[in-house]
Order: sequence, then structure tokens, then C-alpha cells
Amino acid sequence: MVTFPTLRPRRLRKNKLVRDLVAETHISEKNLILPIFVKENINEPEQINSMPGIYRYPLNDKLLNYVQESYENGIRSIILFGIPAYKDDIASSAYDKNGVIQRAVRMIKDSFKSKILIITDECTDEYTSHGHCGLVKYQNENYVIDNDESLRIHAKIALSQAEAGADIVAPSSMMDGVVKAIRTALDEAGFYDTLIMSYSVKYASIMYGPFREAAYSKPAFGDRRGYQMDPRNAYEALKEARLDIEEGADILMVKPAHTYLDIIRLIKDNFPEYPLAAYHVSGEYSMIKAAAINGWIDEKTAVLEITTAIRRAGADLIITYYANDIAKWIKEGV
Ligand code: PBG
Repeated sequence: MVTFPTLRPRRLRKNKLVRDLVAETHISEKNLILPIFVKENINEPEQINSMPGIYRYPLNDKLLNYVQESYENGIRSIILFGIPAYKDDIASSAYDKNGVIQRAVRMIKDSFKSKILIITDECTDEYTSHGHCGLVKYQNENYVIDNDESLRIHAKIALSQAEAGADIVAPSSMMDGVVKAIRTALDEAGFYDTLIMSYSVKYASIMYGPFREAAYSKPAFGDRRGYQMDPRNAYEALKEARLDIEEGADILMVKPAHTYLDIIRLIKDNFPEYPLAAYHVSGEYSMIKAAAINGWIDEKTAVLEITTAIRRAGADLIITYYANDIAKWIKEGV
């Protein structure tokens, strides 16, 4: 006699071995990118107030030890953010041959050779006194971003990062035409093999708050809504991604990640042939961290669930401040 119900989806969930056997989504430390802040003129790592567990590293063996530790955890890709000793209106410390990023890249390359992929964030906000992602001009009694003039500077910064040895440059300014400007400059100088990972779909998000504290890059006036995307728009993301592809981006990115899972799915479905990165940003990190410190959430389970969700939504690569923790948890067997 047949008992009801005859269809039992729960069979596939009956124990861990069956669940692991049929799981659709996996995370691997190979797909993770660790962000690292490097600061000029300090000797010891400095903890970032709003990001407990994350530090600004000096240009010395403390940085190399951290990269080594991460390497031992299984991390193979890092993205570097520079905090320069001086800022001006034109971000000249961003393309200085001896700038903080250029020195950091050379130092890490010298030690690690081709064992680690080095990605450099390409932007002006950390290097300008006004804190914007492009050059600013005064027009009709207002400060505006000079898009086309900014392209020259972005190309210059990207080229100097490639010359220092960056494997991948990652333009994060959201200036129109920035990917093409960079691709052209790299190709003209013979850097055909330097990849571009474009922050193609970058929203004007409050979730970057802790990062701006970490990098002292809060805009001195105005905000970034004139260049970063409006959180109310989804389909506009298709236009941004398509333009970056046409301009020569190798890898696309959606940022933030946890709050924009729908956008990750949209981009992956429409451009499945392009590797897609998602950036689990500073505020998304700090929210979990704060709850964990208070004992309100189990950190490991929360991070693994959220990171898996970002993968499930369609991200191939994930930039995350939790990269080292995740790599360790994977080793322990999750
Ligand atoms: C721009 C840049 C920012 C982040 C990455 N690249 C800051 C911004 O756009 O204001 C934010 C990353 C994060 O919040 O973790 N250089």
C-alpha cells in the first residue's frame, strides 16, 4: 500500500553526505580576492575603527608577512588600495613611480613573483584633496567632475600600476570611457597582457562608509551620485556592463554584492561569457562583524551563507574582507 506523500524532496536533504553530493553552489578560496590597504609613513599595522580585524599595512615586512599568511591560507589574489602621504587636486601621488601603490606592488612582486595575482584599484579618490573619483573643475559657480580630462589621469594611473607590475588593473571611478582610455594606454605601451577588471556596475552606496574611513577618501564636498549608479535602477546596469565589454574589459564587477544579488543575476544571465566579480564591500563586512562581536549572530555561519548566496546569484569571483577567514574555514572542512 502506497503511503502519502510519494514525492519526498526531503530525501535529498537527509544527511550531510547527500546534501554535499547534490549541492549546486560551492565556494573555493581560489575564487576569492583579498582587499589590502597599504599606507605610507607608518611602521606598524593600524586597525581600522569601523572594520575590526582589518588593518592598514605599512610598506615593510609587516605587509609581506600578511601576504605570506594569506598565501598559506590559500589566497592567490589580492586587490591593493593605497593611502598616500600626500594628496593634491590632480592625484599626482596616484601615478608617481614611487607612490604607495607602485612601491607596494613592486615589493610584493619581488617576494612572491608569480605566486600571487596582484590587482590594483585604479581611482583618484584616495589621492585627491577633494576626494572625488575624477578631476574637478569650477563651472557656473559649481564644482563639477571633468569626465574627459579625468580619463587622461586614469590612463596614467593605470599605466603606472602596470609598469610597477600589477597583473590586473581595476578602474573604479565610473567615468564614461575609462575602460577604453586605459586599454588604449596599456596597449600603446605594450601591456597587452595586463587585464582590466572593471567596476562596471558600481552603485552610489552607503555601504562604502567604513572604506572611506579606512582610506580617508570621503568627498570633501558633494557626493558620488553624479557618477556612481542610482540604487533604484536595475536595467541601467546592462548598459554599463555592455559599454565596458565594448571598451575592452576582461572581467566585469557588481558592487556592492549582498545588497545587489538581483543585479549580479541580471549581469550573469545577460553576459554569461564574461567572468563576473562581486565586491562584498566594507559596510557589508562591518554589519556582520558588529553583530558577531555583540554575540547576535554566528559569524562563520553568516559569512558562509552570504558568500554562498553571492556565488549562487552568479558571481564567479568574490572580493571580500573575509577572504582569509573563509579560506581557513574551507580548510577546516565546512
Ligand atoms: C574607489 C573605491 C571605493 C571602494 C572601492 N574602490 C570607495 C568609493 O567608491 O567611495 C569601496 C570598497 C568598500 O566599501 O569596501 N577607490
